[in-house]
Amino acid sequence: MEKKNIFIIGGTSGIGRALAEYYLDLGCVVGVSGRRQALLDELKRVNPTRVFTYASDIKALACADLIKSVHEDMGKIDIIIICSGIGEINASLNAGPELDTVKTNVLGFTDAAIAAYNYFERNLPKYGGQGALAGISSIASFRGSDLAPSYYASKAYVSNYLEGLRKKALKNKLNLKVCTIIPGFVDTAMAKGVGGKEGLFWVAPADKAARQIARAIAKNNAVTYITKRWRLIAWILKVLPDFVYNKI
Ligand SMILES: NC(=O)c1ccc[n+]([C@@H]2O[C@H](COP(=O)([O-])OP(=O)(O)OC[C@H]3O[C@@H](n4cnc5c(N)ncnc54)[C@H](OP(=O)(O)O)[C@@H]3O)[C@@H](O)[C@H]2O)c1
Repeated sequence: MEKKNIFIIGGTSGIGRALAEYYLDLGCVVGVSGRRQALLDELKRVNPTRVFTYASDIKALACADLIKSVHEDMGKIDIIIICSGIGEINASLNAGPELDTVKTNVLGFTDAAIAAYNYFERNLPKYGGQGALAGISSIASFRGSDLAPSYYASKAYVSNYLEGLRKKALKNKLNLKVCTIIPGFVDTAMAKGVGGKEGLFWVAPADKAARQIARAIAKNNAVTYITKRWRLIAWILKVLPDFVYNKI
């Protein structure tokens, strides 16, 4: 792959971190944001010249300024990947975690997606080439959940929003590919929080997920399941009648 400049929003751990490491191995320049300074420092120590780090909370809704700083540091950005997200089982429907999920996965995500789209709209005509914007949705996006209602709903929002931006880029003839990534289970702290430790199956290692995501972005795939077999679960979820789904 041609060496590109990549910015990963939410790259301190899990899938985002694995993506950062994957792109670094390819020789790319990688910007990473997240709240945990110690993890950002760790990444920077590994490759001080090709890693740029940004301590930033997506809930601050300041992604336009964040992306401006990344552009100033890295020269230009070819690919922006929005990985940040939270989710946890909330069977007793406490308002705190439900609303926090919406603030992070919906409001924060939207702020990041708008800032990324606007960045490419402004800069692609100047620098030429093709841009890519990828967001991480989830297999959870296809149905509602009694155990983690706002997480599942927030991922439906992410998928729908990215589809909207994909359509917008196409209509505006912007040379920007918008990729929706739909993981099943990936071996990260988050998977245990949302799926529960016992309910997990077909769990992909984070480095394998990162490889497949990077490949999907390089191939400009609109929608990609991680791993591929999760397309089958998506199909089942979509066709499953309510009276069956409600018993699960
Ligand atoms: N693991 C799975 O099975 C699975 C399945 C489907 C979808 N996903 C999605 O994949 C994405 C990555 O999750 P993961 O599994 O890799 O879990 P993870 O290890 O918990 O990673 C989540 C990332 O999001 C960042 N983040 C969370 N809240 C943030 C905030 N307020 N501001 C900025 N960054 C924030 C975290 O950084 P800081 O904590 O340092 O801020 C971290 O880098 C999420 O969107 C998740 O919904 C995961």
